[in-house]
Amino acid sequence: MNIKIVASQEDGAQYALGLVKEKLAQGARVLGLATGSSPEAFYKALAASDLDLSQVTSINLDEYVGLAPEDPRSYHYFMKDQLFDHKNVKEHFLPDGQAENLEAAAADYEDLIADHGIDIQILGIGRNGHIGFNEPGTPFNSRTHVVDLTPSTIEANSRFFARPEDVPTQAVSMGIASIMSAKSIILFAYSQDKAEAVSQMINGPVTEALPASVLQEHPDVTVILDQEAACKL
Ligand code: F6R
Repeated sequence: MNIKIVASQEDGAQYALGLVKEKLAQGARVLGLATGSSPEAFYKALAASDLDLSQVTSINLDEYVGLAPEDPRSYHYFMKDQLFDHKNVKEHFLPDGQAENLEAAAADYEDLIADHGIDIQILGIGRNGHIGFNEPGTPFNSRTHVVDLTPSTIEANSRFFARPEDVPTQAVSMGIASIMSAKSIILFAYSQDKAEAVSQMINGPVTEALPASVLQEHPDVTVILDQEAACKL
């Protein structure tokens, strides 16, 4: 793992942008994208950059079940707001959280990932070491699947919803094996909240109890951290 400790999220974004630029120059054409706060500075920097993404396909990690793309709480909306409204990509894909047959939609999404092949996967990490919506205990051989969200995740998400019954209880997420199939991975982690998970991811045992620890087995991973997230290394 290449560990890069940066002074600010803006510096982390610029560092990641440099890596992405290099890979695009070498022929990379498919970006795997994440939502959440960790990649926000990167999307801002990407949107403001002169990088030409018109030949680039993006494939997102996950989406909630039951939210329409135009719902401001959906990941479709997040990506449009953070990136697609500002930068022209050739085509972009997110899981269909409104599909009638979610299992079939998840299988189709996995085929899409296999057909395109992800060159660079952007990731964040949860405080419990999750990547995508793959919570502790998710098998390392998992592919895109329908996930029942844990009570703690539902609870954490409830702040974005007016009524408890509106909070999604399921999501469609790339699996661990889908993520590991990417040729290269850039993971952002900022703040003290992430320090324990980051330390376990890098120095702990490779175990399904901490999904991100699987990244120790990937040949091309860059972890971008601020001082706080790196404080337990
Ligand atoms: C987002 C995703 C999640 C987040 C993780 C960290 O698409 O799949 O795994 O990357 O929950 O979230 P933030 O960045 O908000 O701390």
